[in-house]
Formats: sequence, C-alpha cells, structure tokens
Amino acid sequence: MPIVSASLGALRSIIIQVVGFLFMIYYWILTVLSGAFLRKPTAEYNSELALARDNLWNLSKQPFGLHHRFLSLRDGYKFHYVTNTIASASLSAAASTRPLVIFLHGFPDSWAVWRHILASPWLRESSNLVAVDLPGYGGSDLLERYSATEVHERLTEFIIALRELYGIDDYTNDIQARVIIVGHDWGCGIAMRLAAEAPQLADRFILSNGPLVSSCTLSLSFMIVILRNRKALHTIKPIIRQVKSSGYVFALQLPRPIVRVQGSGGNGALLRMIHEMAHGTAGTPSAKDIAESVASSLGPGSAQDWREDTVNLEMQYSKAVVRQGSSEKFVSMTNYYRHGISAGHWDKSVETVAALYSIGRGSEIRRKSSHAGVFDEGPEGSLKSKATIVWGLSDDAIDPQLGLDGIADYLFKDSQVIVLPRAQHHTIVEKEGRAAVQKVIEWAVAGEEGDVAVVAKAAYPGATVTVRT
Ligand SMILES: *[C@@H]1O[C@H](CO)[C@@H](O)[C@H](O)[C@H]1NC(C)=O
Repeated sequence: MPIVSASLGALRSIIIQVVGFLFMIYYWILTVLSGAFLRKPTAEYNSELALARDNLWNLSKQPFGLHHRFLSLRDGYKFHYVTNTIASASLSAAASTRPLVIFLHGFPDSWAVWRHILASPWLRESSNLVAVDLPGYGGSDLLERYSATEVHERLTEFIIALRELYGIDDYTNDIQARVIIVGHDWGCGIAMRLAAEAPQLADRFILSNGPLVSSCTLSLSFMIVILRNRKALHTIKPIIRQVKSSGYVFALQLPRPIVRVQGSGGNGALLRMIHEMAHGTAGTPSAKDIAESVASSLGPGSAQDWREDTVNLEMQYSKAVVRQGSSEKFVSMTNYYRHGISAGHWDKSVETVAALYSIGRGSEIRRKSSHAGVFDEGPEGSLKSKATIVWGLSDDAIDPQLGLDGIADYLFKDSQVIVLPRAQHHTIVEKEGRAAVQKVIEWAVAGEEGDVAVVAKAAYPGATVTVRT
C-alpha cells in the first residue's frame, strides 16, 4: 500500500498548491480592489506601531504590568513568556498554592493576543498567569521544522518546567494547585493534542476556535469520500463552506518565496486586514488597537536587539529572533500550516514519557478522583482530560458544523461545549467573546463551583451549553 498512500499524498499536495494559488489570486484582487494594498499606512499608524512594539517587546518594560521571562529547555531552546508572578525559590506559600493558568495563542499572534484577558485584576490576584509565545512566534526561538513532534515535545517540556517552577508538583505543599491550559486557534489545536496525548499536564483545558488544519485536511479527505458516494451530498455543503472560508490555509501552504510576499506585500496589508477582522463587528478598532495587534504578530525587532557588552544571554531574545525581518516572521508563523503539525504523529521522547508518568502518578496518589488513572478509550484523538470548549459560532475561518459535529464523542467526563452565537473567530479579542472566555477561566480558577452555563450567560447573553458529558 505504500505506493497508493504516496500517490495520495502527492495528489493532496497538488490540490493544496492549486487551490492555494487560486485563493492567493483571489485575495490579491480583493486587497487591491479594496484599496488596502496600495494605501500606505499613515504616519500616525507608523508611530503607533513603533510605540506598541516598544511597549510589548522592550525587555526593560513591564507591558500591562506583566514581567518578561525566558525559559530554556534541555537542548538550549528558549521560550519567551510573560507572567504576573515571577517564580523563584522564594515564591511565597500563598503564591504557590494559586492555580497556574497557561495561555497558548494562535496564528498570527503572540502572548499579547491575551492582553485584554490578562488585565483581569481578579485573575491576577488569584492565579499565576503565564502567556507564552509558541515556537517561531513572538520572542520564542525559531525551529528548523514545525512538525508535530518538534512543537509538542517542546511545549510539554516547557509546561512541565513551569509546573516545577510554580511548585505544582512539590509534594511538601498540602494542597496541589490546579493547572489550567487555555488555547485559541493553533494554541487550541495544540492544547487539544495535549489533552489527548498528555492529559496529565493540566486539570482543565479551555479551548476556543481551533484547529483549522485538521478540519481542512479533513475537508479534502471528505471530499474524496463524498465524490464517491453521492448519498452524502447533504454533508458536502459545510465542507464547501469550510474550504471557501479557510482558503487562506491553502494559500499559506504555497512555496516559501510566495508566502514571504504575502506577508510583506502592500506594507503588510494582509496582517493589518487580519487584525481588523479579528476585532469582530463591534465598531472599528482604533489605529492604536491595530498597531498593538500588528506589533503582537511582528514580535521583537531590531530595536529590541541586544548589545554584546551589556547582556545576560539567558534574559534576552535570541539573535535569530530579533534579526528576523517581518516577512520572514510571517513565513515562520505559517510554517505550522506547511509542516503538517496537526496531521503529523507526535513521537514522544523517553524523557517526556517519564516526566508525564511522574506527574500523572503524583496526581493519582494525591487526588482520589484523579483523571490520570484509567482512561475510557474513545475514538482516536479523544481528549483524556476535562475540557471546556468556548466556541464562536460566527467564525469565518472554521465552519461550526465541522468544528463541533460529533464532538461529544471526543470529550472526557465533566466537559462542556459553550457556544457564543455572535462571536467570530477571535473570541478572545472581540469585546463580548473575551468577556465570556475570561469568566470561564475565572470559574476554573475559583475551583469550578456552580454551573459554567450560568457564568457564561451572565457575561454573554445568548451563550448556551450545547454538550455536557
Ligand atoms: C526600552 O525601554 C527603556 C526604559 O523605558 C528605554 O530606556 C530604552 O530606550 C528602550 N529601548 C529602546 C530600544 O527603545
């Protein structure tokens, strides 16, 4: 069968390239017609952008009162993150019993996409918040390949190191603090994979509007199935809608030089357009909002470069990160689409397996009602930890019918699906959507007391829980 699967693989990549090319032409026509492509950014916008970049990425500042930190892995790979609590040996007893909340962003963002939610004074007082930049994004190191193994191995080692830093698995504490992982878009896809294959990492996963690519690869394989089976015609509509709305996923898989032009063409028109759309339908975002969002995508730049004489290398961005131009940044962010992270197999290293086993056992011994014990085997990809899915139904990037259909089969006990009818893809940025996501996180931090449906509805009129397990 290897010949068949190889030729299917080749057919798939040909389809992706052709569809991607057509979509790219379509987008270029759209941006040119709308004038966005030729419109030069105003001087006001340019100075807002420089300001925002300094605010978000200058390591001598504390953006929104948060601290910049770095964490190096065994092989020297360095993550950048921001936090409200600097973990140290002298972390107070009170601080080490607070829940640890870890935020994973998506495309084309960085830690800063969470800035509105991280501003919650209650969350800051009640939990230790860590918003990390995914590999290749923001201030975290770049990778050669963004494959499933490369990315998930590194994030797992990072999360286990954080658990240690914040005293989660320190058995001299009487209370083991809870860990909550929150993901959006790619971060949601990655968090789902962690919940399925490394469920010991967190007590609850909060997942919002992801993962694009598996539904996209799904669409392609479905299409082949459906072309052979006419009876399934009623299911083809959402798939066509999905392919149409996720056209950019195909366009981002074109060869590197073309993607680079997509990122930089028209003075970064595409990034600006994506962020304008991310704010949803509630009013036009200000130049400052857009500049902040674009600065979040671009990460640190040459202005944040370090001087040889003054620095502690451990506390600086890597040279390769600050010296990467904005079109190269765009390419490394889009590599997630091109290197097949969501479809690929995650080969766990011996170290990862051992570390997961040891934190899993810890929770088994310490918690009588552990989720880390015997798993009910669901379909492949089933989550094995509690999850709360908060889904914007008006998402243009992911068709809700494809994203949510049959999801109950994939959920672990004590999980819920909350739908937000008006929210689009960027639930965590849109004003109404982010209020709902924030309240759900607060519910999890406070120990999950009361009904999460009531909590969500109070923050977002019309929010409904469609699935409970
Ligand atoms: C970073 O911030 C510090 C303190 O506000 C400032 O002195 C420095 O000039 C900034 N660096 C750059 C490159 O703007």
